[in-house]
Amino acid sequence: MTQAPIRTGEPKGFRSAELGWPELDRIPHPPRRVPLLGDVLGVNRSTPVQESMRYARRLGPVFRRKAFGKEFVFVWGARQAADLADESRFAKHVGLGVANLRPVAGDGLFTAYNHEPNWQLAHDVLAPGFSRDAMAGYHPMMLSVAQRLTEHWDRAAAAGRPVDVPGDMTKLTLETIARTGFGHDFGSFERSRPHPFVTAMVGTLTYAQRLNTVPFPLAPLLLRSASRRNEADIAHLNHTVDELVRARRAIGGGDGDLLDRMLETTHPDTGERLSPQNVRRQVITFLVAGHETTSGALSFALHYLARHPEIAARARAEVDRVWGDTTEPAYEQVARLRYVRRVLDESLRLWPTAPAFSRQARQDTVLAGEHPMRPGAWALVLTPMLHRDPDAWGPDAERFDPDRFDAQAVRSRPAHTFKPFGTGARACIGRQFALHEATLVLGLLLRRYELRADPAYRLRVTERLTLMPEGLRLRPERRAPVRGPGSDLRRPVPGTGD
Ligand code: HEM
Repeated sequence: MTQAPIRTGEPKGFRSAELGWPELDRIPHPPRRVPLLGDVLGVNRSTPVQESMRYARRLGPVFRRKAFGKEFVFVWGARQAADLADESRFAKHVGLGVANLRPVAGDGLFTAYNHEPNWQLAHDVLAPGFSRDAMAGYHPMMLSVAQRLTEHWDRAAAAGRPVDVPGDMTKLTLETIARTGFGHDFGSFERSRPHPFVTAMVGTLTYAQRLNTVPFPLAPLLLRSASRRNEADIAHLNHTVDELVRARRAIGGGDGDLLDRMLETTHPDTGERLSPQNVRRQVITFLVAGHETTSGALSFALHYLARHPEIAARARAEVDRVWGDTTEPAYEQVARLRYVRRVLDESLRLWPTAPAFSRQARQDTVLAGEHPMRPGAWALVLTPMLHRDPDAWGPDAERFDPDRFDAQAVRSRPAHTFKPFGTGARACIGRQFALHEATLVLGLLLRRYELRADPAYRLRVTERLTLMPEGLRLRPERRAPVRGPGSDLRRPVPGTGD
């Protein structure tokens, strides 16, 4: 599918809001501003998203913050965010955290500027890799990676040990994207420590986030040793990917996965191919974007399931009913787990693991009829707050309730109120991949285990551009099989029929 190129003609990179918002004065900001530095009093640099959520509650649906001379506009009101979703007037803005990833991901799909020709080329070449047929092809591999996870959890259950949920979900999602996309096995489940690729990736994400919170001219000085480490991390990522590509070329091609597409497929209209440099950037992009966010989504969902046994029982009853005693659920049986999917959506509502995206004006326009914007002026959509706006989600928006996603409830809400995957032409290309993978894994885990929470655990959310429940451990307990040996059907919990 070829989309019209997005052309805005405005300068790239960071633009302080003074340049683009002629009536910036009308937008509220935190009360105590420090000259030159801005709104830095009491700022916690390791949790910028949760900090912005606190400001949002105090300042309202459109607000601004200033840090080290740079002014940012945040939007989270449902009405205003819906206006920003109008593709005829707004487009993706590569700003802040995303632009900081350019040294590693360059003009890869996620970090490309709208006008860069490689965005359209890569989008058109790679989009068929996310079609329904392609997903059905990935399903058996997703299942086999999930079985590695359950073997690992079985051992923990037998020993009565808790499991490290974010750690294990990260292993699972990394292996899934690496194998389905690139035919590569990182051996994550065989390692006691994270794979060096993961360590390097977490290093670059953390560094990119830190760049947002230090004054730009001072960054080279303040982050000198961190920046050297970052260079080493990027070199490691590049090296891993180059090896992967070399190995693929050496065997003369794979079975039509994403890497084959990147290396072999030509654009249907122009006959162009991705350059070797661009392939490197795309592989890094997909390995990073394809696992970090899904791993967080699964971890939050498991946290809420363990905290709400009645919801877990209802979800489990659905899995038992839909999957019966099939050992290996088929591709079509995953989409039929409607309630499990709602659990996932509700987790992504409260903690959208990619917690913000930016939108810029294509032309002179007025945001929601209130705030004039010049071409190139941009705003950050703060998704966790959009997903809590009482106008869209009601007064109990903090409450975990998967029924918010039943078909009728969804129909009764205004459009553009649920945006965990971004919006428009630059929305997430991996959405179906992530949802299929996560629903499958939740189904498998619910069917196999009771999930016991640590009663002392209080949800703490850690931030490294993406969100993750920090220190979450659960104690999985095997459920009793319903039938004789060889059957994988687990007994439903008594008294919890769906
Ligand atoms: C729960 C999991 C996921 C979440 C919450 C998520 C979220 C997002 C968001 C919000 C964007 C838009 C960013 C922006 O506007 O700046 C995005 C873009 C993207 N995502 Fe995802 N994502 C997830 C999973 C995946 C997976 C599994 C893949 C790959 C297999 C992937 C690959 C990408 C790519 C390549 C883009 C850039 C698309 C473009 O600009 O053309 N994501 N994602």
